[in-house]
Amino acid sequence: MDFQLSGKTALITGGSRGIGFAAAKSLAAEGARIALSARDPAQLQRAKEELSGIGLPVLTIPSDLTVSGDEIRIMEAVMAEFGRLDILVNSAGAAQGGVFWKLSDEDWQNNLALKLFGTIRMMRAAIPVMLEQGYGRIVTIAGAAGRQPEAHLMPVGVANAGLYAITRALADELGPHGIVLTALNPGVTRTDRFINRLKNRAQKEGRTLEEIQTETENHILEQTPLRRIGTAEDIAAWITFLASDRAAHFTGQSITVDGGLNRPPG
Ligand SMILES: NC(=O)c1ccc[n+]([C@@H]2O[C@H](COP(=O)([O-])OP(=O)(O)OC[C@H]3O[C@@H](n4cnc5c(N)ncnc54)[C@H](OP(=O)(O)O)[C@@H]3O)[C@@H](O)[C@H]2O)c1
Repeated sequence: MDFQLSGKTALITGGSRGIGFAAAKSLAAEGARIALSARDPAQLQRAKEELSGIGLPVLTIPSDLTVSGDEIRIMEAVMAEFGRLDILVNSAGAAQGGVFWKLSDEDWQNNLALKLFGTIRMMRAAIPVMLEQGYGRIVTIAGAAGRQPEAHLMPVGVANAGLYAITRALADELGPHGIVLTALNPGVTRTDRFINRLKNRAQKEGRTLEEIQTETENHILEQTPLRRIGTAEDIAAWITFLASDRAAHFTGQSITVDGGLNRPPG
């Protein structure tokens, strides 16, 4: 299938690693010009070098989406380089969990600062440009915990539920202007984030990473109808479709890509 992304410009937040980077590779392979944002400039540079093989321009913008104002800098850089923004993929996120009654105000604020407020900031900066163009595609990487919250992952669930609410509500306002919004819920996906969570657990429980990894993976595999753990490329394929005009008649909704683990009714 030709996704017809040639000549389109895509900004991927959290684009230096994991799901964001896989999305950047996939969108670039379909012809999109890519802008990547993340904090670590060295990792952004490595990502740019890997993408440069595709032969299209790649812009990197070191920035921290927990810092108010960085979203403006990101948009200014994209507009200066490419003059438009067709696709925004919100993939910067790193919310953590904890026992609900032990989480302080500060824990909640830290947890929500990136995934929820960072995404709000980035959308707030990108939407006026898309409105002016009369065209835009926004794909937000949320997570199943927004629909099926877990007691020990409450800030994650709350952030994701907030992202669904924004996606659903803005569809009414932006649809008539040619702007399509979707949220995507990856299941457990093998990225640095997954491994880091296992490392933290191993440290907390005084066990080895191998032990925790085998136990966690076996548990996920047992429960997942497709008996596999997702890859960043699995998610990137959906992002590419949702960001393309092939998904032109779909907005304000979320899709779960997790090997069949969570199956919302309908
Ligand atoms: N992996 C999973 O199992 C899974 C499951 C469900 C949902 N998700 C969601 O999918 C999204 C991507 O996850 P992932 O697994 O790809 O994560 P990842 O591999 O840890 O990558 C996270 C990306 O976000 C960037 N980032 C982190 N903090 C940032 C900040 N303050 N400002 C700007 N960029 C920042 C990171 O680069 P720097 O550190 O250099 O900033 C990196 O590029 C997240 O929203 C996550 O919640 C993931």
